[in-house]
Amino acid sequence: QRHLLGIEPLRPDEITTLLDLADKYVTLNRQREKRSGVLSGLTQINMFFENSTRTQASFELAGKRLGADVMNMAMQASSIKKGETLVDTALSLNAMHPDLLVVRHPHSGAVDLLAQKVNCAVLNAGDGKHEHPTQALLDALTIRRAKGRLHRLNIAICGDISHSRVARSNILLLHKMENRVRLVGPPTLMPSGIEHFGVEVYDDMREGLKDVDVVMMLRLQKERMDGGFIPSEREYYHRYGLDAEKLSYAADDAIVMHPGPMNRGVEIDGTIADDINRSVIQEQVEMGVAVRMAAMDLLARNLRARPKEVMA
Ligand code: CP
Repeated sequence: QRHLLGIEPLRPDEITTLLDLADKYVTLNRQREKRSGVLSGLTQINMFFENSTRTQASFELAGKRLGADVMNMAMQASSIKKGETLVDTALSLNAMHPDLLVVRHPHSGAVDLLAQKVNCAVLNAGDGKHEHPTQALLDALTIRRAKGRLHRLNIAICGDISHSRVARSNILLLHKMENRVRLVGPPTLMPSGIEHFGVEVYDDMREGLKDVDVVMMLRLQKERMDGGFIPSEREYYHRYGLDAEKLSYAADDAIVMHPGPMNRGVEIDGTIADDINRSVIQEQVEMGVAVRMAAMDLLARNLRARPKEVMA
């Protein structure tokens, strides 16, 4: 692949190759000496048009640990604020010969559009409600390490599905790897056409969590609800918040996941989130650095294999 824009175009064997490489980077990252030179001589620009803690920090660390020259664009202080378009911004940066462009944008499809205008590798760090491929890959690595496999698992993705790029990328990836996916949440927060996703849909947490191996909780994305129905937090927690009683319906060894940022007391009880016997939320963050290292390593190999004139 030239870019990493989504899970949709990836084959199962490509996903496995990336996760195997990421596993090696987990080991490297746990050592005192973490640096490697696989991106040495390459320039990485991070463009985040939306707030981020985990994704931005981990892409920056990943690039630095692999030896790239990493630049974080301060988008709030850029000429976007003077009315410059996304495409003109991208063309200007492209003229400076970056090799890797990491982009987060609030509009679905914006990262794909940008990738058509530049001649470097583009990594989607989350675009609107569309895709967040590195999140799904880090979730997959977390599941594989915790469960010893990434197939024939029962996985419940719970909460605000309709506004979630994390849910969409995870559904795509988990299906490709032959898992059974359940979506659990209020009907008002399920996307239209959900029957085409090949998932089972529940609006009752206890039924939806019954015997699952993995419970993946999602945040209520109020910033994307623009005028639509917003449930009261209290009522939402009562019906859909993960607490010990609802979790007791899952398999005894079920793991609890959340991509972050978390709203404790809304979609998840704080004691569940902090329970090191069930929650793998901090492991997810750790896997994020390793997966982004693997993704950039593989894209850089393709970049170096391409003839120079294609880059001109
Ligand atoms: N999970 C995730 O994308 O978190 P950030 O918004 O903090 O990057």
